[in-house]
Amino acid sequence: MSLNENKVAVIGFGNIGSVVGAVLADKGQTVVGIDRDQRIVDAVNNGLSPFNEPGLQAMIQKNVAAGRLKLTQDLSAIEDCAYVIIMVGTPLSDEGEPDLAQITAAAKSIVPYVSKGQTFLIKSTVPPGTTEKLVWPILKEKAEVFLAFSPERVSEGRAIEELVAVPIVVGGVDAASTDRVATFVERAFQVRVVRVQSARAAELTKLADNLWIDLNIALAAELAKLSESLDIDVLEVIEAANSLPKGMHHVNILTPSVGVGGYCLTKDPWFVHRMGVSFGWDLQTPVVSRTVNDGLPEFSVSLIDRVLLSNGKKASDCKVGVLGIAFKTNTGDVRFTPVKPVIDALQKRGYNLTICDPWVSADGAKTVTELPMKSIEEAITGMDCVAFLTGHKEFQELSMARIAELSPGALVFDGRMFFSREKIAQMKALNLKYKGVGRG
Ligand SMILES: NC(=O)c1ccc[n+]([C@@H]2O[C@H](COP(=O)([O-])OP(=O)(O)OC[C@H]3O[C@@H](n4cnc5c(N)ncnc54)[C@H](O)[C@@H]3O)[C@@H](O)[C@H]2O)c1
Repeated sequence: MSLNENKVAVIGFGNIGSVVGAVLADKGQTVVGIDRDQRIVDAVNNGLSPFNEPGLQAMIQKNVAAGRLKLTQDLSAIEDCAYVIIMVGTPLSDEGEPDLAQITAAAKSIVPYVSKGQTFLIKSTVPPGTTEKLVWPILKEKAEVFLAFSPERVSEGRAIEELVAVPIVVGGVDAASTDRVATFVERAFQVRVVRVQSARAAELTKLADNLWIDLNIALAAELAKLSESLDIDVLEVIEAANSLPKGMHHVNILTPSVGVGGYCLTKDPWFVHRMGVSFGWDLQTPVVSRTVNDGLPEFSVSLIDRVLLSNGKKASDCKVGVLGIAFKTNTGDVRFTPVKPVIDALQKRGYNLTICDPWVSADGAKTVTELPMKSIEEAITGMDCVAFLTGHKEFQELSMARIAELSPGALVFDGRMFFSREKIAQMKALNLKYKGVGRG
């Protein structure tokens, strides 16, 4: 089979594979996306984005119409592709172990269609050793091919812009594979490539990034708790602390919020922990980051209680408008959203909730709450508390005067907006109360 140097297969056209595939098509590659989910195949082939990611809908529509992007369930479509990207899911199992079933199944099922000289990139997040020990023996058995691990490091909500800006890390099973993949991604995405000496190093790089983020947010969260007790603004402390030069950069403490959710940060630290256990290490940083961050929804609800129930009022007499259930700003992704435990904790106390999220589909919303989704207007009318739990642009645009008019004297709970001091002063002038995580 002769290979087409400009043709790429993306196996796993999910939340992030769909963005990788669409951007590659937009950059001029012919992309065949392969997904076992027929709804995704049908949606994309009809020019529709299956995921609510800024810019993705227009990019899919344009590239499907131009004939550069097509989806199928048929794995034989990889046969003439010079490059094959694997981006299937790698969740945690019920036992808390990395579940590599999708990777194993994808690698085994493409074997009949593997051609000599093809280049494979694993982009799913995996425990170090997976590319060399699990995938490589399956593929190399069939033909002489190239294989590297190249982690996907973009964030949902900004994935399209980040894909063509964030440096790409590449580590192959051998030097020729590293070269081949590095040359391809440099040409396809036109970004800086960071080569590492093995697939294992590239795999651990991805986990290092996500553990750093999770642990850093846990640090911010604990500073927020202290700031509450000290009656100071945690953001002021973080901004001041971050002015310190350290090593080649600065101290860079992130921001506390209502919680850390999503598909990656809730599992990747556990991948690190399990890897440690397999080598006889009981690594503590993943345990700390996950434990602290898992406690943030309950901590946030305790902050709401403190304001609303301070005059002996009962939770069942209070109405809370919940703005946002997605785990991330400007996305419709609710996987492992921290808003779910917030809603559960509020309901357990007896609060009356009105919930809205203009980014989340009806099916997605059902995985978070049984309560019906309402409009923004309904969620800010007649409330004792308007809780901003996602920073969607529609919520950023809300006028405080309108909230004060529809819910006089209400508490504005800031779970993620990081409102400026000017805006907080404006709320207070409008007789609204303000509470953030570690501020106000
Ligand atoms: N979502 C993110 O922001 C993000 C960022 C960086 C890295 N990652 C990593 O990327 C990977 C994918 O994440 P995601 O959020 O896109 O997951 P996802 O579950 O949304 O997508 C995975 C897709 O693969 C498909 N699939 C599974 N097995 C298949 C098979 N054998 N053949 C064809 N299709 C198959 C599924 O139907 C699904 O559509 C994970 O390893 C994740 O950790 C995700």
